[in-house]
Amino acid sequence: MSAQLIDGKKVSADIRESLKQEIADLKGKGIDPCLAVVLVGENPASKKYVASKEKTCAELGIVSIAHKIPETISQADLNKLIDDLNSDKKVHGILVQLPLPKGLDEKEVMYRIAPDKDVDGFGLQSLGKLLLDEPGFVACTPHGVMKMLEAYGIDPSGKHAVVIGRSVIVGKPLALLLLRKNATVTICHSRTQNLKEECLKADILCVAIGKAKFVKGDWIKKGATVVDVGINVGEDGKLVGDVDFQAVQEHASWITPVPGGVGPMTIAMLMYNTVQAAKKTA
Ligand code: GUN
Repeated sequence: MSAQLIDGKKVSADIRESLKQEIADLKGKGIDPCLAVVLVGENPASKKYVASKEKTCAELGIVSIAHKIPETISQADLNKLIDDLNSDKKVHGILVQLPLPKGLDEKEVMYRIAPDKDVDGFGLQSLGKLLLDEPGFVACTPHGVMKMLEAYGIDPSGKHAVVIGRSVIVGKPLALLLLRKNATVTICHSRTQNLKEECLKADILCVAIGKAKFVKGDWIKKGATVVDVGINVGEDGKLVGDVDFQAVQEHASWITPVPGGVGPMTIAMLMYNTVQAAKKTA
């Protein structure tokens, strides 16, 4: 069996296309959707992610205001910047790229962002609303995974979904979103025993652990859907997922590639959240 591809580039392009009309409507009402992007320090991966977020904003006509700050900034000054962005009426969404350099408290910053500008969905109110199944900002990567499943008609209801990884950015919110869609959800992590056996139970397997080619072909239930959230740099310098793609696609019925799977969805959902934030001010 050879799995069919879940094309994140295409789903992302469709979402970005549909946002164009919403952005035009907002502009017609005198609202210019605006995302403030804060990058602290010189982490090369973070610089790359921020550059592609800015590029996508430009393509869609979303204003992006970049704050590129040296890693020597104090917590107090970073907090002050967040406070200023919170009260800036032009700014609809605030994104502080993670990880922050050592010495800066990520949680303090995430929890300081005004809930109505929390387009990353990492703040207390956004996370609480997710837990309570109330409308609110949903973190972009797990939200993107759900949109991909939906686009391909893969309904989690009644299925056994296994999520490997328990981060606040991906694993935990993704598990809650799958639960919201009536999946039976198992969360696996570094202390899980018999990981292979857990994976073999999955109708939908989502992997977000940050270890190249960690999930093997014989861990996959025949016909499963496999979502690879990993972005690792392989020995040859190329991007590689958390899943051994060649082996796994022999067993799965649907699979997301790396690159071109979940990655493009994260940015699309950031744009989506920014437009939602701007709409709320209309
Ligand atoms: N670093 C890795 N992923 C993300 C993300 O989705 N948002 C932010 N702010 N930082 C990240």
